[in-house]
Amino acid sequence: MADQIFEKQLLDRASHVEDVLKRFLPAEEGYAKRVIEAMNYSLMAGGKRLRPVMMLESYRLFSGNGDESVVEPFMAAIEMIHTYSLVHDDLPCMDNDEYRRGRKTTHAVYGAGMATLAGDGLLNFAFETAVKGALTGKELPSYDGENKNRFLSALEVLATKAGIYGMVGGQCADIMAENADLGSADMKDVLAYIDENKTGALIESSLMVGAILGGADKKQVDMMERAGSNVGIAFQIQDDILDIVGNQEELGKPIGSDEKNNKTTYVSLYGMEEARNKVKQMSDEASAILSELGFGDSFLDGLFEYLIYRNK
Ligand code: IPE
Ligand code: IPE
Ligand code: MG
Ligand code: MG
Ligand code: MG
Repeated sequence: MADQIFEKQLLDRASHVEDVLKRFLPAEEGYAKRVIEAMNYSLMAGGKRLRPVMMLESYRLFSGNGDESVVEPFMAAIEMIHTYSLVHDDLPCMDNDEYRRGRKTTHAVYGAGMATLAGDGLLNFAFETAVKGALTGKELPSYDGENKNRFLSALEVLATKAGIYGMVGGQCADIMAENADLGSADMKDVLAYIDENKTGALIESSLMVGAILGGADKKQVDMMERAGSNVGIAFQIQDDILDIVGNQEELGKPIGSDEKNNKTTYVSLYGMEEARNKVKQMSDEASAILSELGFGDSFLDGLFEYLIYRNK
């Protein structure tokens, strides 16, 4: 029952994100119409919208329900970046998967060339959207991080966590680890890097950007980064578990993708039971950080717990 109530709240929040996202979609017109259609096809295919939901919750916690128009362009931006990562991840030259978010992948519908461009377009449009948001002239209190300007600091996090020191770095190691013949100890280090970066980084980014724009100080932002890292790693391990025991219908994407591509995952290295324990342990770690911040009773904390037992 408690689960059902939480699930309903999460769906309401995801649907709110959907409304926000719609306001920032590029218009399908001009000679680039085809690529814009492919971008919107990927973006509006559904998806749990967890990253913008987390960003908004983090913003609400730190701003005390402040003006949400500050964070909305960044919410749209993180979902565009995440969606681009999925479009490219599914390409024939990467995981070569045909289903995503309950429908044909972008390359299956538009071809690999257009899907590659749609990913590129989404990544750029994410920054066009976030920078425009930062340029609206809204005044935010000064930040005690390296840069006093909160919009610039948020943009820096958004850029860094998506790139070679974040998601792209993790995806690079993920490909390198296919069929890799490293010793098991080395492989464990590589896997920790993969999970922390390919998936952890964008979740860290979501929580940190919400916190920075919401008025958190540097120490609090660092704590949100650690919480994001823990919950992000747990999220990827659960994704690897569901790739084996999940249901395609419910997941909206194929199962067995990791085995097909000879991926190294937490399950392949440590086994199913240890993987499940690790998901719980990392999520509890993230919750403990929220409690330290005084957010023990928050929706965000409920979300961290809910994700441990997710099946989609
Ligand atoms: C899938 O992310 C890719 C991973 C990082 C594991 P999600 O499970 O959040 O995918 P959507 O956004 O709901 O489609
Ligand atoms: C990819 O991990 C994470 C990304 C950065 C896109 P997976 O390859 O396991 O994600 P799914 O299972 O295809 O969603
Ligand atoms: Mg992949
Ligand atoms: Mg994949
Ligand atoms: Mg997966």
